Amino acid sequence: MRRLLLLVITVFSTTAWGQAVDSRQPTASAQVNPLLGLPPLPIPADNPQTPAKIALGEKLFHDKRFSIDGTVSCANCHDGNKAFTDNLPVSVGHHGLTGTRNAPTVINAAFYKSQFWDGREPDLEAQSKGPFVNPVEAGLANHEPILQIVRTDPDYHAAFKGVFNVGGDKLTMEHVSKAIASFERSLIAGNSAFDRFYFGGDKSALNEQQQRGLQVFLEQGRCVSCHTIEQDHALFSDSRFHNIGIGINAVQDDVPRLAQAFLEAKNKGGDVDKMVLTDKKSSELGRFAVTDAFNDLGAFKTPTLRNIALTAPYMHDGSLKTLKEVVVHYNNGGVTPADAIVNDFLSGGIRPLNLSDAQIDDLVAFMEALTSEQYAKPKPAAKGGSHE
Ligand code: HEC
Ligand code: HEC
Repeated sequence: MRRLLLLVITVFSTTAWGQAVDSRQPTASAQVNPLLGLPPLPIPADNPQTPAKIALGEKLFHDKRFSIDGTVSCANCHDGNKAFTDNLPVSVGHHGLTGTRNAPTVINAAFYKSQFWDGREPDLEAQSKGPFVNPVEAGLANHEPILQIVRTDPDYHAAFKGVFNVGGDKLTMEHVSKAIASFERSLIAGNSAFDRFYFGGDKSALNEQQQRGLQVFLEQGRCVSCHTIEQDHALFSDSRFHNIGIGINAVQDDVPRLAQAFLEAKNKGGDVDKMVLTDKKSSELGRFAVTDAFNDLGAFKTPTLRNIALTAPYMHDGSLKTLKEVVVHYNNGGVTPADAIVNDFLSGGIRPLNLSDAQIDDLVAFMEALTSEQYAKPKPAAKGGSHE
């Protein structure tokens, strides 16, 4: 049996999933399927995974030359040592400029039906072109400097020739974005303690507190209505948009004016990507910025909860520091602090939950069991022996 499982893993990790599993990293229990708990990975027909393309995408993802001051790559804000986030409330781009939003993890982003907190891009290919030319991220005026580098650098020349059989003027941003997206599709991670318990039949994988937390998640907390768990897999996201009372509360009285001003700017050709990432108040309009629909005001995409213990702080604005603060916000019925006024556009699914302190702790313990095995490794001790 164990042999058979190993065989299955070997096949998975070298063919269908590209380099989904990094074979250089030894795992504690290699007989467990690292993709346990995940559905089949959607791969666009015109951008199949190959190991060479993934490697090229990884190089592009880490190349700081594609920024106005030579200091910013995708990995600045999506750092592999921080579960592909930056662990900051809002991200820092070139020359220390800050944006308005928290960097989500790229792990498992390939499963979302749209990209960004407001879903303004349809897929990873389209998403990857934005950061280079965003004024508070890489800050380039256009994509030309990138094309200049990938067309002339000998290593890139050889790699693009090998992967796409293109070079010179035929090499475009489409190729660059396809390679980056391919790399991102290799950042797939299941096999958390929860997966081993729920899908793998290992009843000892969750301790008693985590099991109680799972019950709260499914029942009294109603978390599962948006952070979904299906019969044979769990993405912990419905890929839909909800207003759960984050950020918008602070601009509540200003919303009619803000919404109007935003629509006017958009109709005059304003770029949504730039507007929402450079103006804090516009950012809070949420999904409305994409759909112009008033019932999308303050609504954001349900993020996955996989590896959530590693990706603090939380929410689109990074305003909640700990998982406990998140649960208290929900327990209050969509407000922090408890006596704040609920916003007009709050999702109907958000109501006070009446959880006890013990249930709140149980729910937090459950979310800590959603860390995938390959990211669960203890970090090397920081200098001076202290670690956070
Ligand atoms: C300056 C920091 C910064 C840089 C550089 C950056 N990102 Fe991001 N990334 C963010 C932030 C902040 C968001 C959320 C923005 C939003 O939703 O409006 C984000 C969102 C994303 C998402 C969407 C994930 C989801 O859950 O919807 C992906 C994928 C992503 N980035 C990949 C990349 C790639 C690829 C690059 C390089 C081309 C890159 N990022 C460069 C900060 C950064
Ligand atoms: C009505 C849908 C809905 C319900 C119910 C819901 N969530 Fe969420 N959750 C969301 C959305 C949407 C966000 C992002 C909101 C934002 O940033 O403005 C979110 C964000 C989070 C985050 C932060 C994720 C991150 O990457 O920053 C955590 C943790 C979380 N929810 C846990 C829970 C728990 C625990 C429950 C049950 C008590 C729950 N959620 C119930 C929709 C929901």
